Amino acid sequence: MKDLDSLGLRHQSGRLEILDQTRLPDEEVWIEVPHPEVMIECIKRLAVRGAPLIGAAAAITLARFAEDGASPVAFFEIAKRLREARPTAVNLMWAVDRVAFSGNDFTVKEVVAQAEEIFDEDVAECEWMAEKGAALIQDGDGVLTHCNSGGLATCGIGTALGVIKRAHQKGKAIHVYVDETRPLLQGARLTAWELTKAGIPMTLLCDNMAAHLMSLKKVQKIFVGADRVARNGDAANKIGTYGLAIAAKYHQIPFYVVAPTSTRDNSIETGLGIPIELRKESEVQLGPNRTSFPAWNPAFDVTPRSLITDLIMPKEC
Ligand code: MRU
Repeated sequence: MKDLDSLGLRHQSGRLEILDQTRLPDEEVWIEVPHPEVMIECIKRLAVRGAPLIGAAAAITLARFAEDGASPVAFFEIAKRLREARPTAVNLMWAVDRVAFSGNDFTVKEVVAQAEEIFDEDVAECEWMAEKGAALIQDGDGVLTHCNSGGLATCGIGTALGVIKRAHQKGKAIHVYVDETRPLLQGARLTAWELTKAGIPMTLLCDNMAAHLMSLKKVQKIFVGADRVARNGDAANKIGTYGLAIAAKYHQIPFYVVAPTSTRDNSIETGLGIPIELRKESEVQLGPNRTSFPAWNPAFDVTPRSLITDLIMPKEC
């Protein structure tokens, strides 16, 4: 397989590595992935995360496994387990199906070609979304985002965060408000890290401060990513996105969902059909006031299409 390079994943001379996102922003530690078992574990514990990136990571892992001489039985068994590593981001199932279960004959060459195409297509679609979305941002806008949808979550510049980065690259004077994104703080740890690296002015806020910020007219636009978009346009994204959309509607703030084609699930009519990942209660119990009280930890929620001003998706246009 050819060399590949993104903010959170690299493949160089046959060596596959992912940047351990659980250690950011404190440490930049790359984990070698010599076997798919390591990738399955990394996806489950969010060392590699973000809907488009976990799809590409699974596909690349399968390609490397095939190149290393995996038997068809071992290959398909691992493909099935990679596919089930997380349930909400449809990009994961889409990518595994494309390289392993598409009905094509299993050849190493074909598996590698599909994995490389998945990576390259995501880079290209990120560019398309960045250009399309950046055109919506005005000089002086306050822009709010949730979770992390940047280079760490994709193979390219990002989806929602890619839009924001592109607006900055185009010289627009913007200020980004970053929801910390409880419970695992993808906003506070990852989006803040990416924005700081890019030199983009930002302010971090707790998730429960967003509506108040909107009432103060500090936010002109909201951009978020998605993990699965149903046929009717309902969009699942990191828990808290739905509440943000409700508050945005009340304050008449445009609310955009930015996602690649691989996030679309046409087999599901509405958001009601999207499986929501339930994670360990200990992730909610962690924090400055660590408790052992019972906790609920759905990792995603669904924003109805009626609350979304526009879907910025390459194949929508
Ligand atoms: O649980 P995570 O961190 O993988 O959740 C990721 C998100 O919710 C992102 O917003 C989404 O995948 C869009 S990424 C381009």
